[in-house]
Amino acid sequence: MAALSFRHGPAWLFKIGALFAALGMAAAIGWVRQPREYRVDPPISAALEQIRLMPNTISGAPPEVYFALNQTYETGGFDLSQGKRFYTWFGCASCHGDGRGGSGPSFMDGWWLYGPSMVSIVSSIRDGRPHGMPAFKNKMTIDEIWQLSGYIKSIGAYKASVSAPSRNDDRNTRPAENRAPAATLFEEGPNPVHPDQGPSP
Ligand code: HEC
Repeated sequence: MAALSFRHGPAWLFKIGALFAALGMAAAIGWVRQPREYRVDPPISAALEQIRLMPNTISGAPPEVYFALNQTYETGGFDLSQGKRFYTWFGCASCHGDGRGGSGPSFMDGWWLYGPSMVSIVSSIRDGRPHGMPAFKNKMTIDEIWQLSGYIKSIGAYKASVSAPSRNDDRNTRPAENRAPAATLFEEGPNPVHPDQGPSP
């Protein structure tokens, strides 16, 4: 009996040790996980409004705070997922379809009427555009508009990104939007490719 427990003792201890190591690793991963900002501080949202557009309202410079936040609206999984929800909640699909366009332009054809930069997209959503794009500044907070813009940018991306919004349950037959270039997500893909006014393929 004593021999038996001696034989089994170390294995048992090893299992406990492995369990604690796993718990330790899980805690470490949880610790490095990106914090979720449910509501940004008023000074930050005020700063996020400060986009400087070119006189033709195409492209421009993002505010400093965009870099201070580590471009989270394009790289944070939480922000991208929020953007994806807003896309449905605020009825973008009624004019832009699932990203391939409808009465509004496509986001996946490699052509941006107002340029591919985040500032352009934020401005299109916040202030609207003359040929039928409504302004959403009275319906959404500026933080939400930036989250939505990051998502819009990701669905038109040519390159896979490490961060992705969560997937729709009914879309499980294909990778999440920015796990793969747009060309592989939808049969037609970006067509034609416009390296002159779009992200480089
Ligand atoms: C009533 C229809 C309609 C709705 C709803 C709508 N859009 Fe648009 N959107 C348009 C049209 C039309 C244009 C083209 C405007 C122009 O050419 O001046 C456009 C343009 C845009 C552009 C600029 C595209 C480019 O090529 O530069 C973006 C970005 C955009 N919409 C995002 C959105 C988002 C995000 C939503 C949801 C919050 C939304 N739109 C809701 C009709 C709509």
